Amino acid sequence: MLEQFIEESFKDLPKGLETHISTVVGIGKELAETHSANAKEVYLASKGHDICRLTPPAVLLELATAFSVPISDVDREIPMLLHGPVGANILAQHMDSFNHSIYDAVYWHTTGNYDLDDVGKIVFLADKLDPVKNTRYPYQRLLRDLAFKNLNNAMKEFLDREIISLVNQGNLVHPQMLVARNKFNGK
Ligand SMILES: [Fe+2]
Ligand SMILES: [Fe+2]
Repeated sequence: MLEQFIEESFKDLPKGLETHISTVVGIGKELAETHSANAKEVYLASKGHDICRLTPPAVLLELATAFSVPISDVDREIPMLLHGPVGANILAQHMDSFNHSIYDAVYWHTTGNYDLDDVGKIVFLADKLDPVKNTRYPYQRLLRDLAFKNLNNAMKEFLDREIISLVNQGNLVHPQMLVARNKFNGK
């Protein structure tokens, strides 16, 4: 039922998002093979991770409230940051039995979370490794090498660099990204 819902939602997406999702699915598959992660869960979470990427900000705020997703000041400022948590809850409505790995992977794919399992880390990193994001993440090659060797090292490297970059550009940092970074620090 979840798979059917995800495949249905994938139809009629704008070309850019469709290409991004297909790329994430491809990178996720490679990473899953390398790290012997659950291929089916990685596939479904990768394919469904941006299910709410185009949901309007006001609707994201409404749905987050309806799903009891905690809304930080930064989320209010940038509601797009809620597309993971809201997407995870939408997907959960279509799960025959609740799948924590898929739920968490989608929920935390923007801010990261120390407690993600390998499925979650793979989806998080695959999302950042889409070559279309190479201007945003100029260290993508290094990140890719790390991701294929050690998921935790790659998570830590990304969070460190992303937080520095956000601060340098005068952007807000989501509190959960800091929580994740601090937990990965020194591990
Ligand atoms: Fe996303
Ligand atoms: Fe994405």
